[in-house]
Amino acid sequence: MSNLLVIGTQWGDEGKGKIVDFLAPAFEIIARYQGGHNAGHTVYLAGKKIVLHLIPSGILHPDKICVIGNGLVVSPQAFFKEINDLKALGVEVNEKRLVVSRAAQVIMPYHSLVEKINEALRGQKMIGTTCRGIGPCYEDKAARWGIRVADLLEPEILKEKIEDNLAAKNKIFEAFGYAPLKAEPIFEEYRELGEKLAPFVRDVSVFLHEQIKAGKSILFEGAQGALLDIDHGTYPYVTSSNSTAGGVCTGLGLSPKQVHSVLGIAKAYTTRVGSGPFPTELKDETGALIARKGDEFGATTGRPRRCGWFDAVAVRYACRVNGVDLMALTKPDVLEGLKEIKACFAYRYKGSRLTEFPAEPWILEKIEPEYRTFPVWSKSIHRLRNLEELPLGFLDYLHWLEDTLEIKVALISTGVDREDIICLKEEMQKILGERASWLF
Ligand code: GDP
Ligand code: IMO
Ligand code: MG
Repeated sequence: MSNLLVIGTQWGDEGKGKIVDFLAPAFEIIARYQGGHNAGHTVYLAGKKIVLHLIPSGILHPDKICVIGNGLVVSPQAFFKEINDLKALGVEVNEKRLVVSRAAQVIMPYHSLVEKINEALRGQKMIGTTCRGIGPCYEDKAARWGIRVADLLEPEILKEKIEDNLAAKNKIFEAFGYAPLKAEPIFEEYRELGEKLAPFVRDVSVFLHEQIKAGKSILFEGAQGALLDIDHGTYPYVTSSNSTAGGVCTGLGLSPKQVHSVLGIAKAYTTRVGSGPFPTELKDETGALIARKGDEFGATTGRPRRCGWFDAVAVRYACRVNGVDLMALTKPDVLEGLKEIKACFAYRYKGSRLTEFPAEPWILEKIEPEYRTFPVWSKSIHRLRNLEELPLGFLDYLHWLEDTLEIKVALISTGVDREDIICLKEEMQKILGERASWLF
């Protein structure tokens, strides 16, 4: 038995969905532990693009069970929409292969209104959220106002909780000029959604412990990225959950001893959606070219992603916080066609060199990256599938990354398809053990 965590080491959109879909054959269960439908994980099935938001990216493998843990904030509407979209594509999704935690928080209609007010109040300092009600739902969880999946199944409790919430929230809505929300229609809608959701609902911690006891293995799918983590990210420009490794235990009811290894995912450059510091951002034609070539538009909101060079200081930090064992590098093919490639290895701040990622956003705003420059490799690596085919120029860049991060790259993604990947099988075997046999 060997459980693996797949985690983004930048500001999200590193290609986690693709890597989880690729690795799923080695596991019985794929489990999400945080976030909600703010995530947008792209996978391709028979050439068709599918973007998953709430349901784990293992769902395209018909023999796998997917789990939504207590650490998530669940929009029941988004949940059923995603199931219907998958069914329309011929992917069978039912309660036998999709499990939702009783203790997950539920996103309610008032959360998006709270988010709208919060973002407007911030003005220029807005977070630039995905507007899915994620932050306000986690706020209610921490403030102990939250409505959980189990509450949806108990009409009397649900009714009371909606009324209590509205008694408090309507005061705010009215103060900001919005009409107060009525409890009855919300109660009716969510009671019905609860009935529909009931077959999927379980005690996820009990379920996972039983599966582990039976010798099954779990692939944990991180959403967002380490730098968007509420504690370890570029606070306050972060999401509202622990996307880092610690979130696995609290978000699924597991012990740290049940996370056996960690695979960090990094793009060969950096992107960020929304506001916040971004030391290696390129606001010039090169940034625009990377965005065009990499098709860098948000998988959830369609917003253009900000683009910049690879930042080894930031990724090294993410690797330390998450205990990354091996790396997967995605989208290096996008860098082809540039005049040169740069990667940041240190920051300069007030005359001194920083090699650790600072926690203060005002420092991150002012630091100057120090770059190493690489020539672009001589031949295209797009869609290559064998290590032997990689040009020397790319290998130079790759080995520099490995030396700087002090971590081996075990997977190199070279295109959007499941098969567009180079796998260093012996390295993967180190973390997957006999479960790597499907690779050979
Ligand atoms: P996630 O949120 O981490 O799952 O990543 P997203 O799906 O939001 O964004 C990654 C984008 O890059 C998707 O459109 C993928 O199809 C695409 N992608 C993933 N790996 C590669 C790659 O190696 N090369 C190219 N060109 N595109 C890739
Ligand atoms: P995946 O899983 C990239 C960003 C938003 C915003 C901040 C807070 O696809 O990598 P929120 O709605 O979570 O309160 O927004 O976090 N953000 C993401 N950026 N990829 C994501 O998910 C993101 N999920 C949230 O743009 O800056
Ligand atoms: Mg994404």
